[in-house]
Amino acid sequence: MSVVRGYLRYINFDYKPKREDMVCVFKFKPGKDISKKEAAGAIAAESSTGTWTKLTTMSLKRMTKIGAKVFEIKGDYVKIAYPTDLFELGNMPQIYSSIAGNIFGMKEIETLRLVDIKWPEKIKNSFKGPQFGIKGVRKLLDVKKRPLCGTIVKPKLGLTSKEHAKVAYEAWVGGLDVVKDDENLTSQPFNKFKKRAEETIKLKWKAEKETGERKMYMCNVTAETNEMLKRARFLKELGNEYAMVDILTVGWAGLQTLRDEMKDLKLVLHGHRAMHGALTRNPDHGISMLVLAETARLIGVDQLHVGTAVGKMEGKKKEIVSIVEDIEKKFVTKKGHRLAENWGKIKPVFAVCSGGLHPGHIPTLIKYFGKDIIIQAGGGVHGNPLGTRAGAKAMRQAIDATMKGTNLEEYAKKYKELKAALDKWGFLNV
Ligand code: 3PG
Ligand code: 3PG
Ligand code: MG
Repeated sequence: MSVVRGYLRYINFDYKPKREDMVCVFKFKPGKDISKKEAAGAIAAESSTGTWTKLTTMSLKRMTKIGAKVFEIKGDYVKIAYPTDLFELGNMPQIYSSIAGNIFGMKEIETLRLVDIKWPEKIKNSFKGPQFGIKGVRKLLDVKKRPLCGTIVKPKLGLTSKEHAKVAYEAWVGGLDVVKDDENLTSQPFNKFKKRAEETIKLKWKAEKETGERKMYMCNVTAETNEMLKRARFLKELGNEYAMVDILTVGWAGLQTLRDEMKDLKLVLHGHRAMHGALTRNPDHGISMLVLAETARLIGVDQLHVGTAVGKMEGKKKEIVSIVEDIEKKFVTKKGHRLAENWGKIKPVFAVCSGGLHPGHIPTLIKYFGKDIIIQAGGGVHGNPLGTRAGAKAMRQAIDATMKGTNLEEYAKKYKELKAALDKWGFLNV
């Protein structure tokens, strides 16, 4: 069988990956009637030049020479090197069609997970990366040291544009820096995009005037690509600084196009990762969040949801710390199955923790991920028994207390908003 398939030709344990190779780490489990080695060869073959049988159009020798090479198998993990020329520069859909394409559906492989990628320079530099990055965002908001904090207008669907704007205003004047739309709020009959943008931006200015602080509105432009661009342009016309997008549901092509438009419009781009769980959740199959986050950094979001380790969504501390490092640092060291990376000119992405958070989580989040995070709470703000404005105050109080090194319960003795939050949701003490 193996001779007919030719998969073993893609194995070369003597091969030393070249600087210009892309290296992928996969976790894999072979199918029933195939050895580990041959299954690893099948992954390399199908993701580069090969197919299931011997061809007449090119010699196997030539095909394997220009193809991907399995150069290491350790336990359930395989490392494969791909020559840069297998890829089209600046074309993320094509890259995914290769290294994250057919291979996930092959009978020869029972489970397969793309764990990490080392991006060669030429490919890295063919993408734009973030336009503003952490520094640019901090400058825009004029917040230098503490984590940024924000909310998601809730309920996620159902408010009219005017009601939406009012909730955002309450959150801003309560002390939050950023307010975002929820991932599934776009332009529904009860809350049309243009009307919402107009109403909310008007109240953003009012909040800025009243508080003397910069306030940002991350308005969700997620839609069919051309429509998305029109929405982004509309935000610019209104004088807004930000657009928000669901990076996975619009697809990498949509995200690349939007990123290009961001440059022309000089808007900051906030990335929500809705749908990632379909790819990332099974530890043996799919694509890791690390890989998705690296991809989003390359294409160029300025902010990205990475998980919380403590909130409502699945995701462990170790994994999320690793992702935060990978999107925020210039040099990333090898750690576990994560490969070393030098991000060079590609700017850092501001990591966003969101999903099931409340003020009682804040000290832990800062302890785990540092100050360079954006902490967002929807339910944890609008569910405060004293209302949205108080919920926003409680978030800022929790941040201020943590930055001063004061215990939240102690701080709450002086601040009724924080007390109401802690009484309702408790305090995570790690
Ligand atoms: C939400 O929309 O509820 C959260 O942002 C989802 O959280 P995640 O970023 O952990 O997927
Ligand atoms: C998000 O989009 O990040 C969320 O909807 C988070 O909402 P939550 O704080 O209520 O979980
Ligand atoms: Mg949401």
